[in-house]
Amino acid sequence: MVIGANRGIGLELVKAQLREVGVSRVIATHRPGVELQKLDILTRLHGERLSLRPLDVTEDASLEAFARYLKTQEGGIDLTIHAAGILHEENIDPEKSFAQCNARNLKRLFEVNSVGPLMVAAALLPAHSRKRRFTFAALSAMVGSIGDNRLGGWYGYRASKTALNQFVKTLANECRVKYPRASIVAIHPGTTDTDLSRPFQRNVKPGKLYSAEQSASRILNVLKDIGSEESGQFLNWDGSQIPW
Ligand SMILES: NC(=O)c1ccc[n+]([C@@H]2O[C@H](COP(=O)([O-])OP(=O)(O)OC[C@H]3O[C@@H](n4cnc5c(N)ncnc54)[C@H](OP(=O)(O)O)[C@@H]3O)[C@@H](O)[C@H]2O)c1
Repeated sequence: MVIGANRGIGLELVKAQLREVGVSRVIATHRPGVELQKLDILTRLHGERLSLRPLDVTEDASLEAFARYLKTQEGGIDLTIHAAGILHEENIDPEKSFAQCNARNLKRLFEVNSVGPLMVAAALLPAHSRKRRFTFAALSAMVGSIGDNRLGGWYGYRASKTALNQFVKTLANECRVKYPRASIVAIHPGTTDTDLSRPFQRNVKPGKLYSAEQSASRILNVLKDIGSEESGQFLNWDGSQIPW
């Protein structure tokens, strides 16, 4: 299952999963009311192997309806990747200085990037049995690492990903007893050519900007090898660990 699958890395994660013959079904979520051209084409190509579900990760009613839907999915879901996230939105740009920070924008970034994935995990976990092996991976960002923070800037995005990492770690700790076969991780996809990064690609070093297809394939490659021993880690796209 991919959360935030309408474009960018999320869409490529869906396509990559559908290419795998061993994957019997993929659930892809999109915000309600948006145009679904690419997901609709995939539905026509793959029929019942692909199920589309509306979900806004910041809306309680949307999350509640989604939780009810998940409870109807017999056997639970093997792999969930939370790809929904924002760096900029209408009226939100990453802050270069504390002077550009405002409370409304900071709250919005936390609402989407930190609270959203935790609420999705809270909707998902009750649909799983204790004995089942499953993975929940949230796409985080290297800039959320406090240990790696040498540049500053991007206050809201950076801190919202740091908070996401703390939620992932805390959830993994709690689930070690409740769901001993679960792997719950944060993963950095690498700088990827999507709408999210497009306005900021000028400063990316040559060869360090990856296509969404490449990033999706690397993420799936890392996730296929992890088990409950890796639960609670913050992983890079090559499978190495990133300092918190
Ligand atoms: N691209 C990079 O270089 C990069 C680097 C590090 C980390 N990441 C992380 O990777 C993830 C995917 O990024 P991307 O580059 O693929 O971004 P993207 O192309 O901008 O796609 C973001 C996705 O998130 C969805 N979304 C946003 N707000 C949502 C909400 N409230 N509820 C549900 N879905 C929502 C969007 O849906 P709509 O289509 O409806 O807007 C879209 O499908 C993000 O978490 C990002 O922080 C990306």
